[in-house]
Amino acid sequence: MKLIMLGPPGAGKGTQAQKICNDYNTVQISTGDILRAEVSNGTELGQKAKSYMDKGDLVPDEVILGMMEKKLFGEDAPEGYILDGFPRTVPQAVGLDELFNEHDAELDAIILMEVDREVIIERLTARRTCKNCKKVYNLLFMPPEEDGVCDECGGELIQRDDDKEETVKNRLKVYEEETAPLVDYYSGTGKLERVDSHGTPEEVYENIKEVLESL
Ligand code: AP5
Repeated sequence: MKLIMLGPPGAGKGTQAQKICNDYNTVQISTGDILRAEVSNGTELGQKAKSYMDKGDLVPDEVILGMMEKKLFGEDAPEGYILDGFPRTVPQAVGLDELFNEHDAELDAIILMEVDREVIIERLTARRTCKNCKKVYNLLFMPPEEDGVCDECGGELIQRDDDKEETVKNRLKVYEEETAPLVDYYSGTGKLERVDSHGTPEEVYENIKEVLESL
């Protein structure tokens, strides 16, 4: 299964991708997670990406496409996957289509997660992530048992730099300008599936399962 999770920041793409992985024995490939790992390892790619990410802007297309070609078609590339946060611009989607054509691969569906702006801001400013195992919490909706401490590994919970309210607002603007045009781009493929992403993570997952079971 090859899926794209499409939707604004905070729609729940990462949360739902993990649920799908647990049930459907597939893997999540998150460009955001890959870039954050590059930043924390201080690699050349990470240094290049950091200034964009801190402002809530997008990392240039050629950097992302080069990185994703290796992930999706290099040695050890998985057979099925859920793309979380990629593609994010029309040139990235065109680049992905070219790679799929070159390698005779095909997408099964694009899941478009739809959610209102106020809900997004509320979710993102309350997100906390374990510094150690990267488990994601939410102070409002999925709080840890003990304040500031990961339930799984006891690690410290931190706020992502780009989850401060001003940066979240810029990310939403960037989404509207650069990523929302992908909805039109994929509408013509017959593979775009819209999913109401309000409600609890479990309710949203039920909506997604309905789509997956119809494929
Ligand atoms: P990235 O990490 O991809 O950020 P994003 O797309 O903005 O996604 P988020 O992780 O913020 O949201 P999500 O939809 O995954 O929500 P989540 O499940 O985590 O990218 C970060 C940066 O990297 C970008 O700004 C850019 O600079 C760069 N980048 C990445 N990919 C790129 C690309 N392709 N091209 C160029 N640059 C790129 O949930 C969010 C919170 O809400 C959590 O706290 C969660 O617990 C909670 N939550 C989730 N679902 C629910 C629910 N149903 N109810 C209540 N709370 C919920």
